[in-house]
Amino acid sequence: MNAVVQPASRMLLPLREEDLDAVLEIEQATYDFPWTRGNFLDSLRAGYEMQGLVAPQYGLIGYFIAMQGAGELHLLNISVAPAEQRRGHARYMLDELRALARARRAAQLWLEVRVSNERARALYERYGFRNTGLRRGYYPALGRKREDAVVMSLQIPEAAHGLG
Ligand SMILES: CC(C)(COP(=O)(O)OP(=O)(O)OC[C@H]1O[C@@H](n2cnc3c(N)ncnc32)[C@H](O)[C@@H]1OP(=O)(O)O)[C@@H](O)C(=O)NCCC(=O)NCCS
Repeated sequence: MNAVVQPASRMLLPLREEDLDAVLEIEQATYDFPWTRGNFLDSLRAGYEMQGLVAPQYGLIGYFIAMQGAGELHLLNISVAPAEQRRGHARYMLDELRALARARRAAQLWLEVRVSNERARALYERYGFRNTGLRRGYYPALGRKREDAVVMSLQIPEAAHGLG
């Protein structure tokens, strides 16, 4: 995969069941413990917010999945294909997620991230998320161990609620 996607040409589209082969290819290339097809299907059926980042002439290069809660949006998965990382695609998806949270009058976005996932933690911190807690042994880890999750949240400014 050698595409260099120009920011102006990328777009976010709702993920569909027929996109899952492409999703799984990225998922399996980016995680030691990837979600399964069943996890993605369950999320589709549950009506979670699932958007794919698509580049014309290339196809799917990333995606995010978020669950609506009471007054909040919980980011469950955000991934960018390895060859497309560090080009601002995750930041672009977070912008969309924040706009979505505003449109739905959610007061905050929150997520869990592995303590060892420095790239993702750097992304969220630079974006403005704050550490709000630790969940001990939340994730499976290699060697049958468990790994802690950092809980992070981003407040959606009051003044912006409902502005879309
Ligand atoms: C984490 C991930 C989604 C970031 O996607 P990305 O498109 O590469 O991120 P962006 O290019 O939008 O980066 C935005 C900012 O995040 C930080 N960041 C991203 N990748 C980084 C890295 N490898 N090292 C340090 N900081 C990094 C930087 O602050 C960066 O801004 P900058 O490039 O102006 O310095 C991507 O690395 C990925 O898919 N990783 C595997 C899956 C994963 O861990 N998902 C998160 C689960 S909680």
